[in-house]
Amino acid sequence: MTQDQNRFSFHRQALAADLCSSLEGKGLVDSSSGLFLAAPRRTGKSTFLREDLVPEAGRRNWLCIYVDLWSDRSRDPALLLAEAIKTSIAEQQGAITRMAKSAGLDKLSIMGALSFDLSKVGQSGGVTLTDALAHLADKAARPVLLIVDEAQHALIGEEGVNAMFALKAARDSLNQGKADARLFLVFTGSHRDKLAHLVLKRDQPFFGSQVTPFPLLKQDFTDAYTDWVNARLAASNQFDKQDMFEAFQWVGHRPEMLKAIIGEIALDMGEASNLGQLLKEGAAGLRSRIWDSMESEIGGLTELQQAVLEVMVKRGKDFSPFTEDALKAYREILGQETLATHTVQAALDGLREKNLIWRSARGAYALEDETLAQWFGHERNGA
Ligand SMILES: Nc1ncnc2c1ncn2[C@@H]1O[C@H](COP(=O)(O)OP(=O)(O)O)[C@@H](O)[C@H]1O
Ligand SMILES: [Mg+2]
Repeated sequence: MTQDQNRFSFHRQALAADLCSSLEGKGLVDSSSGLFLAAPRRTGKSTFLREDLVPEAGRRNWLCIYVDLWSDRSRDPALLLAEAIKTSIAEQQGAITRMAKSAGLDKLSIMGALSFDLSKVGQSGGVTLTDALAHLADKAARPVLLIVDEAQHALIGEEGVNAMFALKAARDSLNQGKADARLFLVFTGSHRDKLAHLVLKRDQPFFGSQVTPFPLLKQDFTDAYTDWVNARLAASNQFDKQDMFEAFQWVGHRPEMLKAIIGEIALDMGEASNLGQLLKEGAAGLRSRIWDSMESEIGGLTELQQAVLEVMVKRGKDFSPFTEDALKAYREILGQETLATHTVQAALDGLREKNLIWRSARGAYALEDETLAQWFGHERNGA
């Protein structure tokens, strides 16, 4: 944990070490073909990657490349990937050139050995991503860890899908060769079903791999946070660890939301003696605000759109919008005898415009946000 005055950050070094070992094929789980981690939004994936996984890989002397495909949603994911790899190669070349200079070697011959047209990486007719990665691993002479955050974003266009195939090809060619030039791949996503479209079928880039749930922050996180908060409060005004953990569960294990509730309570705490009660109310209030807004959003959809969503939630990763079976399910919900395919298509398009669903380049659909599935489960089925 970082005991910064203004910022609380909880570290999971043991988890990072486990994941790195599994990438090496040495852990209980073998992830040497790639690690696919899914957890809902705002639960701490990127923070963990940056603050725990990258440092752990550094301790193992791996070369790390981190790419967030959501960092700029207007840009082609394939280009973002190519750019990150290029930057890393350029840094690597810089380091080698500096080394060569200090060793008094002939700079020209070193540069010659590295002749490589960086400007063309990832472009058609230029250096492929596969070659660039192979080049990088070779020059680095140590394992390369490539982390692709929000990897499902690559699947919305054919370019991105091709980039994913290129990564797989690079992994295969590197991992068959020299032991020290290996490529470890980590992909994360905010939605299990979306990430599954990288691994599910024969024509998908990482067919055969598994999507693993990324472990949510648990009570060790809220315990450490409670201590951190209490240290800033009067001894007579302290939060209880169990209350804190319950509130955290209420808000879906999202650190920001817990911090927001604490912030709100702290503002008008005054002579409050019932912090536990305030915490419960804060968490319940936040949750019902989220669910109310979801309810009004769903309520504003057409009946067919609602029916499509409902079937999508039920079927999860097996959902396919136009199968006879799916059409029958919509008809049953709507109580209709007939239903034209093009009206279903229009409903899907409408849902996509509202950012409620996601579509891959290959025509697979999934919910944009997993919270929606929870809401459906609760509201519609009283689960
Ligand atoms: N280990 C942690 N300790 C403290 N705060 C955290 C931790 N992990 C995440 N957070 C906070 O939660 C928020 C969401 O985290 P983020 O890593 O962006 O989630 P995700 O990538 O899953 O969407 C951020 O504001 C971050 O500061
Ligand atoms: Mg993130």
